[in-house]
Amino acid sequence: MNLKNKNIVITGGADGIGNALAKRFLNESPNSVHLIDINPNVIQVAELMGINGYVVDVSDPDNLKLTLNNIINQFDKIDLFCSNAGIQEFGTLSTTDEAWHKTWQVNVMSHIYAARVLIPHMVDNKDGYFLITVSAAGLLNMPGAMSYATTKHAALGLAENLSIMYGGKGVKVSVLCPQLVETDMVTSTGVLDENHPLMRDGLLSPNQVADDTVRGLNKEDFLILPHPQVLQYIQGKAHDYDGWLANIRKLVKK
Ligand SMILES: NC(=O)c1ccc[n+]([C@@H]2O[C@H](COP(=O)([O-])OP(=O)(O)OC[C@H]3O[C@@H](n4cnc5c(N)ncnc54)[C@H](O)[C@@H]3O)[C@@H](O)[C@H]2O)c1
Repeated sequence: MNLKNKNIVITGGADGIGNALAKRFLNESPNSVHLIDINPNVIQVAELMGINGYVVDVSDPDNLKLTLNNIINQFDKIDLFCSNAGIQEFGTLSTTDEAWHKTWQVNVMSHIYAARVLIPHMVDNKDGYFLITVSAAGLLNMPGAMSYATTKHAALGLAENLSIMYGGKGVKVSVLCPQLVETDMVTSTGVLDENHPLMRDGLLSPNQVADDTVRGLNKEDFLILPHPQVLQYIQGKAHDYDGWLANIRKLVKK
């Protein structure tokens, strides 16, 4: 998709990858850009960028629907929706039901709430793009973050299903699956040091990820992989699933 003259909505747009996407998209002469975020700062952030901001919790279906319908009413249509807001939870079996519910709501259900409004809208227009920020954790798992990895796998499955069901009706779907990106999600946890195995493949800046995303959207690739090594890893996993599991176990032990 060429982003010129398009109406674009980004969730989780106040900060991190979502905000970098917005800045990068502005170089492509879109018609309008809209940032949705639970953080009230989104209003000021958007104002400073000369775009529109909305304080919405994406896990609140009614409020999200109302906001998306208001944007459609005002701007005629939404061409590209970036379902990017996400949260990370560390822990394995000790993860509480409450934490599972919260990650499930934000990392999975929010995409479904948006899809219920936007996929029929895009099918009616015979055009539209639904981008979900998943993670390499949705393809390759993430030891120590059980609910994050599980919900990201679910988001990937959802995106595949949307592409299969609506790809023939004009709706394009992509997943953005980076490994480490230098945002609050990563820097605030303090778990990163230079010995972290993922550091081998690099800590990308949100701006690098945004550049790769624009390239991926232009090409309409389903998988957008800012860390190119991820393609090799998923090929290895598919080729020898048990061997891949054994290798990850070894890495965790180290
Ligand atoms: N940073 C990484 O290394 C990395 C890697 C792979 C995937 N991701 C994914 O990228 C996406 C963006 O994360 P980020 O790294 O920019 O993190 P971030 O914490 O910098 O930004 C996330 C944004 O989402 C907003 N948000 C959180 N919950 C929300 C809710 N319920 N409703 C609306 N907005 C909400 C936050 O306020 C924040 O502005 C997430 O889906 C994350 O899982 C991040």
